[in-house]
Amino acid sequence: MESVAEEKDETSQSFTLAQAQELESKYVLQTYARNPVMFVRGKGSTLYDDTGKAYLDFISGIGVNVLGYDHPRVRKVLKEQGNLLHTSNLYYHPYQGQLAESLIKASGMARAFFCNTGAESVEGALKLARAWQRRQGHENKTEFVSLVNSFHGRTMGALSITAQEKYRKPFEPLIPGVRFIDANKCEDDFAEARETINERTAAVIIETIQGESGIRPVNDYFLKVVREAYDRVGALLILDEVQCGLGRTGKVFAFEQTSVKPDVLCVAKPLGLGVPIGAFLVAEKAVDGLQPGDHGTTFGGGPLACRLSLEFMHMLQEENLMQRVSEVGNYFRKLLRRMQRSHPDLIAEVRGLGLMVGAELTFSGKGVIAKMLERGFVLNCTHDTVLRFLPPYIIKKAEISAMITNLEEVIVEEASVMKNAAL
Ligand SMILES: Cc1ncc(COP(=O)(O)O)c(C=O)c1O
Repeated sequence: MESVAEEKDETSQSFTLAQAQELESKYVLQTYARNPVMFVRGKGSTLYDDTGKAYLDFISGIGVNVLGYDHPRVRKVLKEQGNLLHTSNLYYHPYQGQLAESLIKASGMARAFFCNTGAESVEGALKLARAWQRRQGHENKTEFVSLVNSFHGRTMGALSITAQEKYRKPFEPLIPGVRFIDANKCEDDFAEARETINERTAAVIIETIQGESGIRPVNDYFLKVVREAYDRVGALLILDEVQCGLGRTGKVFAFEQTSVKPDVLCVAKPLGLGVPIGAFLVAEKAVDGLQPGDHGTTFGGGPLACRLSLEFMHMLQEENLMQRVSEVGNYFRKLLRRMQRSHPDLIAEVRGLGLMVGAELTFSGKGVIAKMLERGFVLNCTHDTVLRFLPPYIIKKAEISAMITNLEEVIVEEASVMKNAAL
């Protein structure tokens, strides 16, 4: 057995980045601008590339690998469940019901539907909202209200409620009857929001903390205004916690730190610890929105994904992860704010909650990401100028501090390069 493992390791190591680049450039649709790095294994919060170089991970596969890499509890589940990966939703398996119970007890919702990705969870939530309104006899309530700067995924429905033009434009026409309101336009006491949520609105959909648009927590007073409006017209509230949910902010769900409770709650990213799974959770009021046959999926809620997710839900509680996320997240922002005080001309704002952290630069962050990668730090930049940090929940303070020391040097260096180039 040992020799097989060794052989496999060698096989993967001998396949180089250049070979991957060559094959992908020939055979893979060119929709991604990948960084020139090929990861082959990980341990804790560290990733290793094909040359053996180590990188500290501050994005965790865009908010997915929250226990880092090669965690013993994850390895154990993978080994034990290796003989039954998929059964379909035609039959029972032991883990879907247990996972649903765990998510329902943690969220105060009533029922769960399992799918495979964040976009699918949003898609399902939109379908449920329309069907629920129709079942209530409200044939005219078919529209959706979403936020300026929102991101909900790439399928047609999720894209239709995603505000950003660059994602929408090539695929228009998208589903009609979607309006966008600005959560920051508060001078007129959110008159636009009050007016836009109207008798035709099936649901209002909000990321509790906007992720892709640059880690922007949604103002709680705005949420109260929205709540009054959707209560008044009988619309549902869908919260998209695909990125900010499941421990990321130091609570199981980010909405626990606001004054609203969702009717439908979307989760995905970290749930399966790297194996794709998403879910939408539905409050008692709306559970009859979808009836037998109304919605389904071949892969959603399979035994491997559900068992891993159940293990994760147990670990969130048992391993004190959320307390850790809050404490380490505060430390992270403290260091970033200190850096901001030293360089107010380079860092405009530091935002976030728990280990969902954003630092808005005063210049494009692209070069910073490339230089940090060279130094062995995996970072992400979103909305051109926002450094988005979604590290694993197990990241250590010493690892954060090492990254910050490097980041400060790189930001200063990169800003001066940009300044000189502009002269
Ligand atoms: C808030 C939010 N919703 C939905 C999605 C879509 O998830 P997925 O990429 O798994 O389809 C994302 C992805 O980044 C997200 O951040």
